[in-house]
Amino acid sequence: KQVLSVASEAVPLIKTGGLADVVGALPAALAGQGWQMRMMLPAYPGLLGKLGETEVVWRDEALFGGPAALHLGRHGGVDVLALEAAHLYEREGGPYAGPHGDYWDNAERFAALCWAAAAVARDGAGDWRPDVLHAHDWQGALAPAYLRYWGTNVPTVLTIHNVAFQGRVGTDKIGALRLPYEACHPGGYEFWGDVSMLKAGLTTADAITTVSPRYAEELMRAEYGQGLEGVMVARASALTGILNGIDDTVWNPEADPECAPFSATKQAGKAKNRKALLEEFQMDPELSGPLMVLVSRLTPQKGIDLLPAAAEALVEAGGGLAILGSGDLWAEDMVRGLATRFPGRVSVKIGYDEGLSHRMFAGGDAVLVPSRFEPCGLTQLYGLRYGCVPLVAAVGGLADTVIGASPATLAANAATGVVFHPVDALALRQSVRQLCSLYADRKTWGAMVRRGMKADLGWGASAARYAALYDRLLAA
Ligand code: ADP
Ligand code: GLC
Repeated sequence: KQVLSVASEAVPLIKTGGLADVVGALPAALAGQGWQMRMMLPAYPGLLGKLGETEVVWRDEALFGGPAALHLGRHGGVDVLALEAAHLYEREGGPYAGPHGDYWDNAERFAALCWAAAAVARDGAGDWRPDVLHAHDWQGALAPAYLRYWGTNVPTVLTIHNVAFQGRVGTDKIGALRLPYEACHPGGYEFWGDVSMLKAGLTTADAITTVSPRYAEELMRAEYGQGLEGVMVARASALTGILNGIDDTVWNPEADPECAPFSATKQAGKAKNRKALLEEFQMDPELSGPLMVLVSRLTPQKGIDLLPAAAEALVEAGGGLAILGSGDLWAEDMVRGLATRFPGRVSVKIGYDEGLSHRMFAGGDAVLVPSRFEPCGLTQLYGLRYGCVPLVAAVGGLADTVIGASPATLAANAATGVVFHPVDALALRQSVRQLCSLYADRKTWGAMVRRGMKADLGWGASAARYAALYDRLLAA
C-alpha cells in the first residue's frame, strides 16, 4: 500500500523545526506497518544534489507561473519526490524567508506544491499511484482541498503540527491560488474575510490528525484554536491526536557521536558530558544545583518571556541555565541580558546548532520547556531519552508525555519530570524550586532519570495508529 506525504520540510534534507523531524521519521516508521511512503518536497537549492540519480516522473509547463519537473530520487532509504520549479524554490535563504523576511509569494509557492501532489494522487506519476495522500500543516493543506474541489476520491489525511501558522492571505489571491470561488464561504476556506489555506484543508480532508491527544482537545477551545476552534468542533469526529515519536537512530545516548555514551544503568558518561557542557558554555564548573538546558525557537509560543523568572529561581538554588536558540530579536536580547546578569550561571548561544543540541541533552540535568502552547514538542522527549529531566508547562503534548512529580506519582514510582500550570511566572518559579529539591534528593532523582530513559518514546505505537487510519480510509 502506497502513501504520498506532502510537506515543506523533512529531516535530513531540510529542517527549521520539529515538523521536519516528524515528516522525516514517518517513512521508516510506516515501512514496518505495511505502508510505503513517498515524500514530496520542494526542490530547494541544493536538494536535488542530495538525491543521487533521479528520474523525472511528472511535468507541468505552467505551474503557478513557470515550468516544473518532479524528480524521483532516494535519500537515506526513503523515496523522495522533489518538485523542481526555479521560479518558486530557487532562492537564497531558508524555505520560507530570505534575508529581507518572508517571501512575498509563500502562498503560491506551497499551493504549487499541493497542486502537484494532488495531480500525482489523481493521475499517478510514472507507474506509481498513491492509495492515500497525507499532507502536513498549511503548506500541504491545499492538496486535500484540490482533490476535493476536483471531485476526486483519493482518501486524504491532514496533520496539524501547529495551528498558529495558517497560510492566511487576502481574497485577491483566490484566482492565483486556483481556488474555486464557490468554496469562499465560512464553511469553506474563507476566514474573517481572507483565505486560510489551512482551513481549506481542514474543511476538505477525510481525516484530520494532530500531534498529541491533548492538543486535539485544546484545538476546540478559543484559547488555543487561533480562530479555527469552531472548525475543529465541527470536524471533531474526524479529528484524532497521534503522539510524535523520536527517531532512535538519531537520538540514542548509547551511540551518539556527539557525546560520551551512557545509559539508564551506566551513568558515568553522563557525568563526563555534564562537565564538558559546563566548559563549552563557560559556566561555573562547580554548580551545586541542576544544570538546566533550553533548546528552542525564541518566540512567544515557547514562553521565552518567562525565562527571567526561571533563571532567578534556578540561580538562587545553586543551579545554572544553558540556552541555545534563535528567533525574535527582543527574545535574543533578553536572554543575552540574563547571561550578563548571571555570569557563570546563565550562558547563551544564539544560533542553530544540531550537534550542540545533542551535547546539551547529553550533559544537562534538566530541560526546560515553558511553552504557552505546544502541539507535541520534541525537546522534552529528547530530554527523557538522555536522562535530562523535563520541566514543562502542562499544555499540549508536553502534558501528554511527561508525568509530573507529585506525592501520588512519586509514591507510585511513576514521575518522569516536573509539570507546571498555569503557564505563568509564579507557577514556573515554584516548579523550578520543586525540581531543585528533587535534584538534591539523589535517590529520588536517580530513579526519575532512569524511568525517563527507559520510557518508550519510539515511533512504534504511533506509526501503527497512522497505518490503521490509512487502512480505515482506504476501506471506507
Ligand atoms: P517547534 O517545531 O515548534 O520548534 P519542537 O520541539 O517540535 O518545536 O521541535 C524543535 C526541533 O528543533 C527539535 O528537534 C529541537 O531540538 C530543534 N531546535 C530548536 N532550536 C534549535 C537550535 N537553536 N539549535 C538546534 N536545534 C534546535
Ligand atoms: C510544530 C509544533 C511542535 C511539534 C512539531 C512536530 O512545530 O510547534 O510542538 O512537536 O510541530 O509535530
